[in-house]
Amino acid sequence: MKNVLIATQKPFASEATTKISKILKKAGYKLDLLEKYSGKGELLQAVAGADAIIVRSDIVDSEVLQAAKNLKIVVRAGAGYDNINCAIATEKDIVVMNTPGQNSNAVAELAIGMTIYGLREFFSGKPGGELRKRTLGLHGFGYVARNVFRIARAFGMKVIVYTRYSKGAAAAIGLKVTDSLEELYKKSDIVSIHVPARGEHIKSVSYEILENLKDGSILVNTARKEVINEEDLIKTMKEKPGIKYLSDIAPDKKEIFEKELEGRFYFSPKKLGAQTSEANINAGVAAAEQIVGFFENGDVTFKVN
Ligand code: 3PG
Repeated sequence: MKNVLIATQKPFASEATTKISKILKKAGYKLDLLEKYSGKGELLQAVAGADAIIVRSDIVDSEVLQAAKNLKIVVRAGAGYDNINCAIATEKDIVVMNTPGQNSNAVAELAIGMTIYGLREFFSGKPGGELRKRTLGLHGFGYVARNVFRIARAFGMKVIVYTRYSKGAAAAIGLKVTDSLEELYKKSDIVSIHVPARGEHIKSVSYEILENLKDGSILVNTARKEVINEEDLIKTMKEKPGIKYLSDIAPDKKEIFEKELEGRFYFSPKKLGAQTSEANINAGVAAAEQIVGFFENGDVTFKVN
């Protein structure tokens, strides 16, 4: 019998856990649930007997992987797997998967929701602006960005994109691809970031990109705080007092924003892009099915390491 552990500091909606449990039960697997754990110690103990683990943004570092003596597969129920030490997993022959696309609509709806919130002056009652006819620049064109595009079009926005890897997909739906990231930031009223916290993207939103933003524009980040060079963003926001920054999770330099850029930002209290029951069900069920597929059929379709 396989032991599957769900380790989620930020628990799935209960409908998602019920559905995951049914899938695993049908396969004859045992499910252990570790939710809202407070320290790493609890996680280290819980992983000891697991053959498979399902996580969200939970940190699966070298210590966790070493403690999980029987582990064969970790599935990140979601898109970004920057929380998992893939190099150590590979060394230990542990498969790492994500569940691409499964929570992307939820994140896209949040990106648009935050944009409206920012444009409407944080619902303060001050006169704000509308989405219609504004130019939205998509920084990246993965699953989330494609959903943002679909929704933005319905609002009557003009959408442009900068992508290096999905140019064909963007052009196929008539989306204007800018020649450079600088051009995207220059031409947009709102920029929505959709790149992973990996490799060349880390701190890639730097001054040479940000200085192109129009005064009065909005930068929306539902990706990761790590893709922003925070010092450069603060500098740019001081130079152009109309720029707002809306982020799904607080930056490391949150205190500077609070002291020096008051009224020009929104930071969610915890990452909530994928915090819908639909997203939890989609990603959680996909994770469970991928684990069963892996053990029963050797299916490694969504392997990322
Ligand atoms: C993702 O990478 O899929 C999202 O950031 C969601 O993360 P979460 O599962 O921690 O909400």
